Amino acid sequence: MIIVHGSTSESLAKAVSKEGNFKLSSVITRTFPDGEQYVRISDNLEGEDVVLIQSLWPNTDRLIIEYCLIVDALKGMGCNSISVVIPYLPYMRQDKRFKLGEPISAKAISSLIESVGINRLVTIDPHLHRFRELSEIFSIECINLSAVPIMVEYYMKNFKNDVILIGPDRESEQFVKVASRLLNVPYFIFEKERLGDREVILRGEATIKNKVALIVDDIVSTGTTLANIVQFLLDNGASRVDALISHALLIGDALERLKKAGLSNLITTDTVPNPIMTVSVAPLISSIIKSNFAKISGEEWRR
Ligand code: R5P
Repeated sequence: MIIVHGSTSESLAKAVSKEGNFKLSSVITRTFPDGEQYVRISDNLEGEDVVLIQSLWPNTDRLIIEYCLIVDALKGMGCNSISVVIPYLPYMRQDKRFKLGEPISAKAISSLIESVGINRLVTIDPHLHRFRELSEIFSIECINLSAVPIMVEYYMKNFKNDVILIGPDRESEQFVKVASRLLNVPYFIFEKERLGDREVILRGEATIKNKVALIVDDIVSTGTTLANIVQFLLDNGASRVDALISHALLIGDALERLKKAGLSNLITTDTVPNPIMTVSVAPLISSIIKSNFAKISGEEWRR
């Protein structure tokens, strides 16, 4: 397996290649004066099984185009197979036409990702809500990994708390459940009503008086959801609030808002580049490449 990566995935790709002892090959990327993008695969990868690690964050839309161009370049070079690791799968939250005239973005973007002709997709903690499985929006092989176990392991090693687990909304239950099974502790799920990009109402209750509350969720974007639930838990007697979040987008002043709300520790990963990465997903990705990526024959793929 040869690892290549897009312009925002260099450190993760290096970590995966080091972890699994995979050869790393580079992709030259640049932007033309008019904003169009240029890519070129540096080495001749004809006949190789290639794993493209392509973070689609930040600047998602630009990186989707970069991804399409890299895959086309790899195909044009005659690679034997192309597996793609998109650690954070964007556009998944618009999984329904909430209002007349809207797209189902999760479906539209998954179709685009698949349409360029890849053999398999690996992703981490995708936001699956109305679509329960990746197979409902992709027809290629998809591997859905979770970063929750490695974040739980890190948390327990470093904080050793007795915790009560909290999910800020119904979609978070799939992630909270994993932590609950691992720690053998109960969890509470809240109801979230979103009024706008930076406005949510949370409803629910949890027995948290004098307890450490540990929130588990997939994404922190503007920090609105997390800041609200932290505030609620502290107002209702929690002795401390920590959080495990797979994808820390942390838009604008999100970190400040979280600190101000009283969040003590935010444990997150490197699925997207961020300044507070605590646990790397590189070992997860490397071990799935080693154990699951059987050789796919070029003939089979082209059919
Ligand atoms: C949505 O349900 C997700 O799981 C997150 O709760 C949400 O994306 C967080 O967004 P924000 O940080 O902007 O509230």
